[in-house]
Amino acid sequence: MALLRDIFIALSENQMLNDASKKVGLKFGTNKVVGGITIDETIERFKDINGQGMSVTFDNLGEFITEKSDAINEKNNILNMIQAIDDHGVDASASIKLTQIGLNIDYDFCVANVREILDAAKAVNMFVNIDMENYSSHDKTVHIVDMMMEEYDNVGTVLQSYLFNSPENVYKYKDNRIRLVKGAYKESPQIALQSKDDIDAAYEQLIRIHLTEGHGFTSIATHDHNIINDTIDFINEQGIPNDRFEFQMLYGFRKELQTELVDRGYNVCVYIPFGNQWYAYFMRRLAERPQNMNLVIKSITKDPVFKTTAIGSGAVLAGIAVYKLFSRK
Ligand code: FDA
Repeated sequence: MALLRDIFIALSENQMLNDASKKVGLKFGTNKVVGGITIDETIERFKDINGQGMSVTFDNLGEFITEKSDAINEKNNILNMIQAIDDHGVDASASIKLTQIGLNIDYDFCVANVREILDAAKAVNMFVNIDMENYSSHDKTVHIVDMMMEEYDNVGTVLQSYLFNSPENVYKYKDNRIRLVKGAYKESPQIALQSKDDIDAAYEQLIRIHLTEGHGFTSIATHDHNIINDTIDFINEQGIPNDRFEFQMLYGFRKELQTELVDRGYNVCVYIPFGNQWYAYFMRRLAERPQNMNLVIKSITKDPVFKTTAIGSGAVLAGIAVYKLFSRK
């Protein structure tokens, strides 16, 4: 399974396949996990989710940004989505990736883009989460997060439990709004835990520390029912009020668990990606859980235009072959 994970992570980092995916639209089952291509259709998904008693955080899909003009386009998509959310009165916050708005192009340009997004969000009373990407952008991201936290009160970030530095950072951000995750990228043993058991144990520790040490707001972002159940036991033991935390899950994953948590009175926020650049996001989801390949297999049998994109099809079929091979073991 670890090899399978590595294969999908490697596929997620392939820029050519990422570029090819933009022309394909929401195929291969991605419409089940992406809210829409356009802002208008995605806003309708937000309304559905709000109607089920859950809030939303949106993610404008797009990675491998190397040109300033592309970064400006992505920033404008984010600003347009913030405006649309306000216009439609839906309950939604923003999740942004700094590499998408220029982190790997020009640091000051990226900072200016972040400020523009935070200003626009603040004007409509919206929270913005700065997502944590792979370790190559970690230090610059943390630097910008810390600077923005000095200037703004509507910004938070993510701690990944696999990173060795997260136990230190959870104290640093104990009074901030923080999303806690296990971590989605392949990182080296020099900087990150490698075994699932260690990552899970570190994750539970981070949750407990953030819930109890400060007065920050904790977003517990996982689909892991064991960790969710343990956390609920801990919350009950400690008498932590429901307005101090929420559970977050990705759009299209474990919908029955999302509904169950809402029915039990907990705050649930659904992370909804939108746009046509679904490839890297989708490959990381396959890396986390190869059973998600079922979405692809179902869509292939239903979708007659599957054959239209040779490159995309090739990648997906290769993934299926690998999945079949390993799922026999
Ligand atoms: P994990 O994949 O460890 O699964 C644990 C167990 O849960 C499985 O063995 C299975 O029993 C059950 N399970 C999981 N998924 C299931 C499913 N679909 N159906 C049935 N059972 C299932 N990462 C990052 O590096 N930076 C970031 O900014 C973010 N942001 C983010 C936001 C949100 C809202 C979420 C939910 C996740 C992220 N992540 C992330 C991704 C995160 O780091 C992690 O890779 C995934 O959430 C997968 O780990 P889980 O904790 O969900 O369960």
